[in-house]
Amino acid sequence: MNDNPLLSVNNLRTWFELRKWGFFHAGRVKAVDGVSFDVEKGESVAIVGESGCGKSTLARTILQLYQPVSGAIAFKGENISRFSKEKLQSYRAKTGYIQQDPYGALAPFMNVRKILEEPLIIHGVKKSARRRRAVEETLYELNLTPPEEILSKYPHMLSGGQQQRIVIGRARILEPDLIVADEPVSMLDASVRIEILQLLKKVQKTDGVGLIYVTHDLSTVRYFSDKTLVMYAGRIIEQAPVKELISNPLHPYTKALINAIPDPDAVNANSLRKVPSGEAPSLVSPPPGCRFHPRCENCIEGLCDVKLPKDREPISGHKVECWLYE
Ligand SMILES: Nc1ncnc2c1ncn2[C@@H]1O[C@H](COP(=O)(O)OP(=O)(O)O)[C@@H](O)[C@H]1O
Ligand SMILES: [Mg+2]
Repeated sequence: MNDNPLLSVNNLRTWFELRKWGFFHAGRVKAVDGVSFDVEKGESVAIVGESGCGKSTLARTILQLYQPVSGAIAFKGENISRFSKEKLQSYRAKTGYIQQDPYGALAPFMNVRKILEEPLIIHGVKKSARRRRAVEETLYELNLTPPEEILSKYPHMLSGGQQQRIVIGRARILEPDLIVADEPVSMLDASVRIEILQLLKKVQKTDGVGLIYVTHDLSTVRYFSDKTLVMYAGRIIEQAPVKELISNPLHPYTKALINAIPDPDAVNANSLRKVPSGEAPSLVSPPPGCRFHPRCENCIEGLCDVKLPKDREPISGHKVECWLYE
């Protein structure tokens, strides 16, 4: 038996070098800067944070599309950076990726059958009957029926919601152990977002697959409730099960994010609450100490602006990186 978590991310750093101008070195973007968390088998983990905080970089590093500068990612206990070419290929088969933009994710010249069959062919499913079965089963799971009608269609003949269903289908067709969904509904019409999220949740439950759901919208994370990580300026500043996080946020930033969720029942203008005031910090020269301190109402001078807080677990299963809980 293997007791390791499905995925274990340890002190991960992914930085981008800015282009040099002559002798002048412009610095580096510290998009992911010391991130640690686990995903258990079949667990769903939401990563929430403002645009530009490093969510996509983290997602793409996990999928080995970017190389980290330091830290480690273990998949079922094995360090993925040491994978041979063959192992990397099989890692790719075991990890599905759902991108933000369904319109850009599907090749316009391939019909649905080709799109869904492609990963099966790439990963060596030789029998065409087996491929056909997998494709049909996927279409049923995604409520894209009858299959014969959908299979011959090209992406431009489908709605945005249908396209994203195909993207989800392509991500699950090899029966992966982990799916990484990066803002899977942010480009879609508001009217189909919930439907797609519910579908993604259904796929996650039926397939028993681990899911990393990335979003800037805290109000959607309740669909994927196992664990929620709050990311701020390249770091995870709080993590807890979603109900606990929403009812008992500890970090001042998380509190501000929750306050900014509009109340659907309120009719007056106050229902549009404001996002945390101030600007997200530069990732090239992040503020010293706690990265949130310039925007924080509870900043303790001489401490929060000087020293990075340590990760604490004041409540079992609820971690926070903040000096208020020291
Ligand atoms: N390929 C890249 N090269 C250089 N900088 C990048 C690259 N990708 C992202 N960044 C920078 O890293 C930071 C985090 O970006 P990203 O991970 O896309 O954030 P998010 O997904 O949370 O919006 C941003 O400042 C962005 O400009
Ligand atoms: Mg992103």
